[in-house]
Parts: sequence; structure tokens; C-alpha cells
Amino acid sequence: MIVLKTGYELKIMREACRISAGALQTAGKAVEPGVSTAEIDKLAEDYIRSQGGEPNFKNYEGYPATACISINNEVIHGIPTAKRILKRGDIVSIDLGAKFDGYHGDNAATFACGDISPQAKRLIDTTRESLYEGINAAVSGGRIGDIGNAVQSYVEARGYSVVRQFVGHGVGTQLHEAPEVPNFGTAGRGIRLMPGMTLAIEPMVNAGGSGVRILPDGWTVLTSDGSLSAHFEHTVVITADGPKIMTLL
Ligand code: MF3
Ligand code: CO
Repeated sequence: MIVLKTGYELKIMREACRISAGALQTAGKAVEPGVSTAEIDKLAEDYIRSQGGEPNFKNYEGYPATACISINNEVIHGIPTAKRILKRGDIVSIDLGAKFDGYHGDNAATFACGDISPQAKRLIDTTRESLYEGINAAVSGGRIGDIGNAVQSYVEARGYSVVRQFVGHGVGTQLHEAPEVPNFGTAGRGIRLMPGMTLAIEPMVNAGGSGVRILPDGWTVLTSDGSLSAHFEHTVVITADGPKIMTLL
């Protein structure tokens, strides 16, 4: 069931999203050579709690941390640890969210650790831009396939591929709600987009093929071919005046 949010609900959810955005900014600023992923996770958790929120990934289906921190060929769901130390040249995808007063925010971005290669920078830029292509396609009266088609065509025109095994999602009183929001598809297909829908749009883009595999830890998702991967996500609300990004400071 797709839940359309009222104006009152959206005000509360905006706070959850603001906290999520602040935590992501805080975590991203900490990305530098020599820092462990556990240290970044702690900064994010402390920020969320300081704002009266709760880390909504923690304990979600048993997930053990506030953030997912995925490096280089890791696509998503990397588990922070004190042993994983960032190096210059790494690309670091951080995904996290906050729950506030019963509502969820969810966002992600890929950060450069020191100087990175031009190839890595182009992948990150393309992934961020593909998120905005998807957001711009999220208009009332359109269809869910318009979003995926916008992301996919932007990404593939630049020689990269979108991950298909994981998708974006509705978000609200649950971290994951209907509908699924694929980063691929056909314009004009799928459910109709309506004002009050709140969606987490989150392209995962691989420099090589679209295939992924999961590590024996049961969480970490890697590219099958070892290529780099980047990930950007915003929580967005569809309104009569177009899509509005909720995960902004
Ligand atoms: N960040 C994921 C998403 O965007 C959810 C993470 S699953 C968790 O949908 F277990 F890590 F929380
Ligand atoms: Co999400």
C-alpha cells in the first residue's frame, strides 16, 4: 500500500530528513586518509542523537551500525569497523538516516578521500547527476518508470551501468515502504505518481557491469567485476508544484 502523507506529516518528516542530511554532511566532512569507518559511524550517530533523532538503520533487520560505509568496489551496506582505515584515493559511499517523531529520513552520497583519479571523479559526478535526473522526473501525473528511465538513460549514455538488484523505495513511518523505485525501466510504465508520495530515490552506479555479489558477512554488496561503484540518495516528496528534496539542511 502506498501511503500519501498529509502536510502535517510532511512537516515532521522534514525534521527527520533535516537530521539525516546533517548527519550525512557531518560524516562526509570526516572522510580523510587515516580515519576508520567506525569513527565516521560514531560521528553520525552522535549527531543524530544530539538532534533528538534515532539512527534508523541500527538494528534494521539486524544491521549493526548507524551508517553503511562502502568503499571503492563496495556498492552498498558496508559495515563500519575500527579496522577499515580510509586511504587517499578511496571513494567512500555513506548511506544513513534518522527517525524523528515516528518518521524516517534516508540519504546517501559518495565522497572522495583526498585526491582521487579522474575516472573516479567522473563516476561520482555522473551518479550525483543521475539522482537529479531521477528527481526531476518524479512529477505528479507521471509514472514510477519515468524515474528509473531518467536515471538509467543518463548513466548508460556515459558508459556506466545501474545496479538492478537493489532499488529505491517509499519512505515514511517505515524506512522501506511501497512502492519500489528502480533505477531502470520504461517511461510511462508502473504506478502513477501523486502529490504526497515520499520516495527515497537512490541510484547505485557501477563503472563496469551491473552485476553485484554479497560478502559472507551477509551485508556488504560488491561489484561482481571489481569495478568502482558510487551511490547518491535523497528523500523526495512529490507535490503539485513538482518534486521537493526533503533531505536538505
Ligand atoms: N540505506 C538503505 C536504503 O537506502 C537501507 C539500509 S539497510 C540497513 O534503503 F539495514 F542498513 F539499514
Ligand atoms: Co534508501
